[in-house]
Amino acid sequence: MSEIEKNPEINKKQAALLEFIEKMEQMSKFQEKIDVPADIDQIWEVFLEEIENSIDVDICALFIVDEKTQEFILKNVSPADKESICLKEIELQIEIGMLPWVINRRQPALIPSLAAKNKKTIIMLPLTTVKRTLGLTMLFTPIKESLITQENLKLLAMLSKECSLVLENTFLYESLKGEHESLQKAQAEIARAEKLASMGRLTSGACHEILNPLNIISSHVQFMLMDDDLKPNISDYLNIMHLQSNRIAAIVQGLLQFSSSGMQNLIKIKVNDVIESALAQVRHELKLNKIQVVKKLGNNLPVITGDMASLTKVFTILALNARDAMSKGGMLTISTKICNKKEILPGQSAFIETMFQDTGCGISRENTRKIFDPFFTTKEAGAGTGLGLALSDGIIRDHGGIINVESEVDKGTEFHIYLPIKK
Ligand SMILES: Nc1ncnc2c1ncn2[C@@H]1O[C@H](COP(=O)(O)OP(=O)(O)O)[C@@H](O)[C@H]1O
Ligand SMILES: [Mg+2]
Repeated sequence: MSEIEKNPEINKKQAALLEFIEKMEQMSKFQEKIDVPADIDQIWEVFLEEIENSIDVDICALFIVDEKTQEFILKNVSPADKESICLKEIELQIEIGMLPWVINRRQPALIPSLAAKNKKTIIMLPLTTVKRTLGLTMLFTPIKESLITQENLKLLAMLSKECSLVLENTFLYESLKGEHESLQKAQAEIARAEKLASMGRLTSGACHEILNPLNIISSHVQFMLMDDDLKPNISDYLNIMHLQSNRIAAIVQGLLQFSSSGMQNLIKIKVNDVIESALAQVRHELKLNKIQVVKKLGNNLPVITGDMASLTKVFTILALNARDAMSKGGMLTISTKICNKKEILPGQSAFIETMFQDTGCGISRENTRKIFDPFFTTKEAGAGTGLGLALSDGIIRDHGGIINVESEVDKGTEFHIYLPIKK
């Protein structure tokens, strides 16, 4: 046995050192146990396990700083029924100025059992990065403060650093993900707007070119139909030609409407008046199809600036689509209200929200992405042109607003139209 090995004091120190190294090794696997992106619960689970491996604890609590209010919010407690103890304790520590001191120092702090509310020794572990404070871990331990060693605290400090890094990565990932999603949404919006604009220019030119020869064909067919000596089958053929020319004319008229800017007569408008004007046009149709109309119109809504005829057209289209979706009758609920939400459109937070809700066949998830595309229709030839919603979308955009859809197959569909209230 060497001289060193014989010395019990050195032996003890060596053993302590070995134990420390072992714990550090075990702790350095912390990050490996978490696959970023993780959620806070997952990080907490691993962190808790590491803490429990390092020191004897009765209660552990994780507080996360709310970015807006800078308050410490209790996120997790173990065991779960000790929530109120932790909340009372942090209140006390804030009151006596201990919490700001610990956060400023960025080091673990020991609170003697006498100074703690539930008379247990508390270890506060700030979770910080170079730039900011992410939160705090509070440990309640049965060990007397005089028996907690510097090694214990150092180990916990390193563990907290690891945890802070993983937390910071997760928060960064979350915020990047949010920004990426809103960027993607904005790009899709721009693509949709561009598609509509170029479609508009192209169609208005083409429509006039089609309408002229179509009128000539149509009038000649009508001349031929006036002939009393027509063989019956020829007159049948001509009638078909007449019907189909009318159909082409309807589509082309729709296209023209679609491509021309509908914003000709901008005035101050009450959205409820637009609803009444649209309903006046379709009331009879709805009644014939056994559709009950329920109106929930808001009182004293602010006015918006817009084109009455175009907006009436939108609401008529929505009502007629609802009629088509409820072939066996049903209920159409129309509501208007003020909506204050920032996330609907950038730079706008006050809208009049109009909802058209039906109890019809609904729209499949796949089709909800296509319904605003020009010419998309699921209706039989002759029954739909697929231009109604594309036209409506264009008109609402021209008003600086947006139209959204939510639908469930066999349950019904909701269209939400947001029109900005400009100050
Ligand atoms: N309220 C609704 N319920 C179910 N499907 C709808 C509703 N509104 C629109 N749709 C679907 O969207 C498609 C496109 O509508 P639209 O552009 O008005 O064209 P069209 O009515 O001529 O088919 C419809 O064919 C239908 O499939
Ligand atoms: Mg339609």
